[in-house]
Amino acid sequence: MTHQEIRQRFLDFFKQRGHIIVPSSSLLPDDPSVLFTTAGMQQFKPYYTGQADAMKDFGSLNTASIQKSMRTSDIDEVGDDSHLTFFEMLGNFSFGGYWKKETIEYAYEFLTKELKLKIDYVSIFKGENDIPADEESEKIWKKIVPDIKVKKLGRSDNFWGPTGNEGPCGPTSEIFVNGAEVWNLVFNQYYCDKDGKLELLKTSGIDTGMGLDRLATVVQNKKNIFETDLLEPILKLAPLELEEKVKRVIVDHSRAIAFLISDGVQPSNKEQGYVLRRLMRRVITHNFIAKADLTLTHDKSLRKP
Ligand code: ALA
Repeated sequence: MTHQEIRQRFLDFFKQRGHIIVPSSSLLPDDPSVLFTTAGMQQFKPYYTGQADAMKDFGSLNTASIQKSMRTSDIDEVGDDSHLTFFEMLGNFSFGGYWKKETIEYAYEFLTKELKLKIDYVSIFKGENDIPADEESEKIWKKIVPDIKVKKLGRSDNFWGPTGNEGPCGPTSEIFVNGAEVWNLVFNQYYCDKDGKLELLKTSGIDTGMGLDRLATVVQNKKNIFETDLLEPILKLAPLELEEKVKRVIVDHSRAIAFLISDGVQPSNKEQGYVLRRLMRRVITHNFIAKADLTLTHDKSLRKP
């Protein structure tokens, strides 16, 4: 199945279940406390808090999107089998329309029936400090798959958000396929204020996110994201003599650079422009250093005796 088919199946699946498809927002968010859009829920933040009305704006409490996302936090990991700076995130969202049962059922049905994948295990929030464990999600998973392996993890693994200084956040359930985390289901029950204090939201909401490259890796039965039909064609353009890791960095960064420029970013010495400049510089230096290393190794006169 090609990545275009995966995208289409995802959108069709949620459309058939009453979701309005909302286009991706820009990589540059309205929220001034963050540099980039890092997740699908960002454009929907006001709908979780009641500041905006989903019924009025979308004619539905449920939406789905494929969101362009940029995460500089993973920049040093790029070059391994699964990390990227730019990626597309498939997500379904609900602002009081449905809750954990439907979210988990949809995810299970989409992965196992639509994409014919086998879930290895799932994780849920085990509770930490004053935040209670998510027993409800565990019960729902076990009702669907009685012998499913459920890992119970703490706040650093199974609690998501907020993006920026404040916003909706909550416990998560993550789904693992072929050893990789493919889908993160977030149950936005809380609002986290600027001081990190949590308060229950008036209406709980749903926010899910699944990276397209990782999903394509498991659907296409590949060993890493760079073997999928999303990235392999770009990888093939990299000079053959370069080391695999260098090629991967150049491929990821080049794609991120293209999307940043298309959303209006220009190289500069601050904020988003600085990140773009840094990415460009990394592509150039990786290419240059790798080539210089190769020249040194090939030039006999420069080799140590
Ligand atoms: N917002 C959640 C994430 O980005 C789904 O993982």
